[in-house]
Amino acid sequence: MVEQSASRGSGWQPAQYAQFRDERSRPFYDLATLVERHDVAAGPAMRVADLGCGTGELTAWLHEELGARETVAIDSSSVMLAESAPYMRPGMRFEQADIMEEAGRYQGAFDLVFSNAALQWILDHETMLPRVASMVRPGGQFAIQVPNNGAHFSHQVHATIAREEPYASALGGLVREDPVESPEWYATFLHDRLGCTEQRVRLEVYAHPMQSTRGIVEWVKGSVLTWYRERLSAELYARFLAEYERRLVERLGDRSPYFYTFSRILMWGRVPA
Ligand SMILES: C[S@@+](CC[C@H](N)C(=O)[O-])C[C@H]1O[C@@H](n2cnc3c(N)ncnc32)[C@H](O)[C@@H]1O
Repeated sequence: MVEQSASRGSGWQPAQYAQFRDERSRPFYDLATLVERHDVAAGPAMRVADLGCGTGELTAWLHEELGARETVAIDSSSVMLAESAPYMRPGMRFEQADIMEEAGRYQGAFDLVFSNAALQWILDHETMLPRVASMVRPGGQFAIQVPNNGAHFSHQVHATIAREEPYASALGGLVREDPVESPEWYATFLHDRLGCTEQRVRLEVYAHPMQSTRGIVEWVKGSVLTWYRERLSAELYARFLAEYERRLVERLGDRSPYFYTFSRILMWGRVPA
């Protein structure tokens, strides 16, 4: 069964997420290289939206790097936004809101809509992408990065466990679904449905050498497992984690070090003028 609202935001733990700050920042900076900077040189500085900004640490970097006139940083998680004060910059503002709802408010409002590692929390990308693109002014651009690690055991076993008792009853039959499509799907969708004749879609495999196989558990606790942390009691979540680690080690081996590969899709498109 698929739940439509994929992230409620209370399961996020900024410190857990920041454990892998360097590894999680790298795709953000890579995504920023896809943005066409000459848009800035050509006219007044950009109006930017960062969707699913988290604490805003990287949003502040983007805002300064682009010399943006205005940056609206949107996130639904009060826990993440509670850490945002140090990252406030002149011209930046944070909004606690759901991305899909904000899309209706900000039609054609931005020169650049940017989103790193957030839109995988919104199910049904066929519906999500046109809404996100509708926030871009005609001729403006968007840049989106989503994890594409669904083929790795670390991103499969959580759903297997969640379908078993006692978790299935506690979760009402729901599991964290992965809505991410293939790079080819996004390229075709950007062209055929969004009219982006100018586009780039890239698949990048990020290398994350871990001290051991068990390091993966720390990684997923800061991302995909937040969905379960939000929905299970503390006691059941602790059991879920222990079971997750047991099966992970059983399948991948108790190896030290462990070379963790993490695949991501980076896409950029220019909306028709
Ligand atoms: C993995 S973090 C990424 C944070 C930041 N973009 C970065 O690159 O470090 C994902 C963020 O997306 C937010 N998020 C997920 N679904 C959302 C939604 N529907 N509306 C607003 N924010 C959402 C979460 O609250 C979380 O802070």
